[in-house]
Amino acid sequence: MKLCMIGTGYVGLVSGVCFSDFGNDVICVDRDLNKIKNLKKGIIPIYEPGLEELVIKNYKNGRLKFSTDLKMSVSRSDIIFICVGTPTKKKSNAADLSQVYNVAKEIRNSISKFKIIITKSTVPVMTGDEIEKIISQKKTKKLFSVVSNPEFLREGEAIRDFSYPDRVVIGTADRRANQILKNLYSPLISKGAKYINTSRRAAELIKYASNAFLATKITFINEIANLCEKINVNVEDISIGMGLDKRIGGRFLRAGPAYGGSCFPKDTKAIITTANQYDINLSVIKSVIKSNKNRSSILLKRVSEILKGKIKNKKICFLGVTFKANTDDMRDSSTLLMIPSLIKKGAKVNYYDPTGLKREFVKYKNVICSKDIKSAIAESDLIIIHTEWNDFKSINFKLLVKNKKSIIFDMRNIYSSIKMKKLNINYFGVGR
Ligand SMILES: NC(=O)c1ccc[n+]([C@@H]2O[C@H](COP(=O)([O-])OP(=O)(O)OC[C@H]3O[C@@H](n4cnc5c(N)ncnc54)[C@H](O)[C@@H]3O)[C@@H](O)[C@H]2O)c1
Repeated sequence: MKLCMIGTGYVGLVSGVCFSDFGNDVICVDRDLNKIKNLKKGIIPIYEPGLEELVIKNYKNGRLKFSTDLKMSVSRSDIIFICVGTPTKKKSNAADLSQVYNVAKEIRNSISKFKIIITKSTVPVMTGDEIEKIISQKKTKKLFSVVSNPEFLREGEAIRDFSYPDRVVIGTADRRANQILKNLYSPLISKGAKYINTSRRAAELIKYASNAFLATKITFINEIANLCEKINVNVEDISIGMGLDKRIGGRFLRAGPAYGGSCFPKDTKAIITTANQYDINLSVIKSVIKSNKNRSSILLKRVSEILKGKIKNKKICFLGVTFKANTDDMRDSSTLLMIPSLIKKGAKVNYYDPTGLKREFVKYKNVICSKDIKSAIAESDLIIIHTEWNDFKSINFKLLVKNKKSIIFDMRNIYSSIKMKKLNINYFGVGR
């Protein structure tokens, strides 16, 4: 099939590459000239394990193309995926849909034969209705079908998640579009993915409800972790004990820093905004947002307690600064709150992230990016393990830490407290 992905970011690039790998003819379009130029040279704009190999393979075999020419790309394709950003609006908590609607306006002029227009971007309920209205101002409804097909991939696991999803959700009442999409997704269905055809509005809401629920699970266990710290119980035991119940499930039930990233923070806010429009109070999600906001303050308070209130001039090392492992995405990472706050209190921060220097911290003179783990932790008073990269899972702290009094605060509970105690290392986890 001939596909066009509009927006070559985390979602557009990953899904475009995977679709081409299944044998489709895909053009990934972006308005960012540099990004497209680099992709044509095999330079990948994001860090995502396994992506580079797949891009190079499919670009070389001609099934994957890159372009900035939206008009041409849409004209030659049968299925158009809108994969542009839907960030939070600057002055409210609603999703900013300007990129999505701009695309709808741009593509309507390039439709001369039947096309399926799909929102893969996360969009609030009834965005599909609006896109349909925008396009039908210029084209007859016989020429297009607007479908919702939310994406559930996780950064860091994107190729695997896309290729082996639990479910494919298709929101459309159009039988023809549904049949075409069922064929498109047949390689995934044959590997066990459940194919769900529902209404367009339901598909749009499934995505928001799913993200809000996952954010709730993380926040829930983070609060239980706070209690565990007071009563000398290990939150890991609680996660295992709860997670083994199939009704609950163990995933997204591990205590740690506040959730962040490009999805949960904005999507929880956006679903509340949608509900407010209908006078519905999503009180659970509201408390989740509040609790998550407070999470970084709780962890900072813990840092202060660990350092006995003496933060000034302390050398604090962060291992990992992105919102989670295996991604370079800094959007809404909890370090964006924690590091400036520690600097303000007089700390000197040194960080190492496997995806390199972060422009977000360049403006702080007391924040240094180290080139490797060894130099990052060497002279630290406090080492904070912020992100769960494999690189941080078997560090020989005894060998690497020059300041023998240094303390470890493991915000991901990677290490065993008992083993650390045996090694005579001053070690703290969360919810333990
Ligand atoms: N990142 C994730 O893990 C993830 C997972 C599931 C769903 N989503 C959703 O998918 C959507 C995209 O997210 P992302 O993280 O891939 O965003 P992104 O910011 O990485 O990529 C969006 C791309 O769209 C391009 N773009 C914007 N307007 C354009 C236009 N008119 N023409 C061509 N290109 C244009 C931008 O230049 C950018 O490269 C969002 O709605 C997000 O909520 C993201």
